[in-house]
Amino acid sequence: MPPEFAGRVALVTGAASGVGRATALLLAARGAAVACLDRRAGEVDALAAQIVAAGGEALGVECELRDPAAIDAALARSLEWRPRLDVVAHVAGVGLRRRAEDVALVDWERVVEVNLRAPFLLTRAAIDPLVAAGGNVVAVSSLAGLEGWPYSTVYGASKGGLVTMMRSFALELGPRGVRVNVVCPGGVDTPLLDDLDDIPDADPAIAKRGRGLDDTLAAPEQVAAAICFLASTDASHINGTTLTVDGGASA
Ligand SMILES: NC(=O)c1ccc[n+]([C@@H]2O[C@H](COP(=O)([O-])OP(=O)(O)OC[C@H]3O[C@@H](n4cnc5c(N)ncnc54)[C@H](O)[C@@H]3O)[C@@H](O)[C@H]2O)c1
Repeated sequence: MPPEFAGRVALVTGAASGVGRATALLLAARGAAVACLDRRAGEVDALAAQIVAAGGEALGVECELRDPAAIDAALARSLEWRPRLDVVAHVAGVGLRRRAEDVALVDWERVVEVNLRAPFLLTRAAIDPLVAAGGNVVAVSSLAGLEGWPYSTVYGASKGGLVTMMRSFALELGPRGVRVNVVCPGGVDTPLLDDLDDIPDADPAIAKRGRGLDDTLAAPEQVAAAICFLASTDASHINGTTLTVDGGASA
């Protein structure tokens, strides 16, 4: 039997690190040709070389997702490389743990541009090739997109907006043969966690809403597996859903 994603082309954002890197590797191992996008050009080039050396197909594409023109250019580069698009995985994201009164406007702009605006712009730009291929979209949100989360007003806004935006895309694109789904991880063992601020004098009643996520940290590969499931034909009747991958933290 040919591999599950043989003949299919996937585009993965945030492919230089963590969940995005694991997703690109898993899709490639399952036969997809993978366009690996990230602003860290050297790292996606190295990842693509690693995939090709293992017998797969991949292309590293530098893309600063805060720049709308760069998003269009990266999609065009992928389509020039392989002229079809079966899967778009929006994995890139930035975290922000900060008291609301310490959040500056530039923080809001950075988080919302990367976590919410970029998935909109890229999905919108990819509609025609996705419809042509009968493809699908998977976006990575967070438990923080489903409920209040400690010191996460802006991150939560971006991730909650991502959930409802993707459900609206699912409604709009479903009739055209394109599925759109969301994965909501709990804690994942990636460098993103190291970048989060410590909150001095955190209110324990607020901080406890983290609910022992440290005990249920996922490996990036465990989240990648859920993304690949939703992107696969095994999920062919799943559209507009939100799949939590949190080891039961939100149960
Ligand atoms: N790590 C966690 O605990 C956790 C929990 C829930 C959800 N998530 C979500 O999972 C996704 C993947 O995060 P991760 O944990 O693998 O983090 P990570 O920091 O390891 O990877 C994020 C990637 O996104 C890229 N990126 C960030 N800003 C970018 C920009 N402006 N342009 C292009 N690329 C950019 C980074 O370069 C990096 O390669 C994110 O959307 C994150 O919000 C993570």
